[in-house]
Amino acid sequence: MKETYILGIETSCDETAVAIIKNGKEIVSNVVASQIESHKRFGGVVPEIASRHHVEQITLVLEEAFTNSKLIWDDIDAIAVTEGPGLVGALLIGVNAAKALAFAKDKPLVGVHHIAGHIYANRLEKEFEFPLLALIVSGGHTELVLMREHGKYEVIGETRDDAAGEAYDKVARMLELPYPGGPHIDRLAHEGEITIDFPRAWLEEDSYDFSFSGLKSAVINKIHNAKQKGETLKPEDIAASFQASVIDVLATKTLKAARQYQVKQVIVAGGVAANKGLRAELESKFADTDIPLLIPPLSLCTDNAAMIAAAGTINFEQGKRSDLTLNANPSLIL
Ligand code: KG4
Ligand code: ZN
Repeated sequence: MKETYILGIETSCDETAVAIIKNGKEIVSNVVASQIESHKRFGGVVPEIASRHHVEQITLVLEEAFTNSKLIWDDIDAIAVTEGPGLVGALLIGVNAAKALAFAKDKPLVGVHHIAGHIYANRLEKEFEFPLLALIVSGGHTELVLMREHGKYEVIGETRDDAAGEAYDKVARMLELPYPGGPHIDRLAHEGEITIDFPRAWLEEDSYDFSFSGLKSAVINKIHNAKQKGETLKPEDIAASFQASVIDVLATKTLKAARQYQVKQVIVAGGVAANKGLRAELESKFADTDIPLLIPPLSLCTDNAAMIAAAGTINFEQGKRSDLTLNANPSLIL
């Protein structure tokens, strides 16, 4: 059987990434140029700066992806690109690069949803078994997605306000930690103790939705009140207490949904999947069940193009094609 090689392009936020994947599961090359250093001093991603960096980096990253792969254009079966969601100016750089290459090299073009990419990052580690439940926790998303087959996504729960990573980044800013704050809170949390009983938004009994804005406000109020009263709160303890609340809700709802839908596999994806506390809590909760839990290595949790090529392979195999009218869609639905 002929091998399938898909070239993936990802520029939805602050990583310029190009990768080549073989048969949907094997990384041939995976190049990521991160812009974090440029955004750090602004405390978050600045869209205009992101777009400018993508323009500067895309050709270099593409060249490096080919050099690492030892393949040539003739070997490539299709070009997959993140069409949304994300920052519109950032997405446009990837989409336009993909369209130009598809036209110039006469290759099929396949649009990919960024979250489908995060889910398919896991397939680079292990073959999927359906029904499958995916917990997606990133800077822009918090979703529980049920999959009964390849390429079909049922969102059974999502955040009603802030994404988990967004809550981490906002609390980190209150604690005067650098951007992105998630890893810093994670580290501090392990040095602190759970001394504050922060709220947990369970929402309605049968809901798999999430809400983190109340928790974020509770943390901010606690810090303000302590300052006014002249009390000293240890940042480590705030981090530990905040993290305990986030993890409790994420892990409990994931386990409940996994049981209700009798899934054969649970996967975790997105930047917050790098969180040590979340990994440990999910591992301990699922250890008591016979449901296999899969958490990808850190390099595949954060944005990359290998995951876009992996999800793009499925779209390609299912005959889904985009044409040269493909546009960036910042609020694309899964
Ligand atoms: O998936 P990702 O790289 O980009 C988006 O698509 O959003 O996720 C980035 C998010 C940031 O909010 C960052 O603070 C968070 O993931 N993050 C973490 C950790 N590492 C990254 N949050 C908690 N604990 C971590 N160890
Ligand atoms: Zn992402």
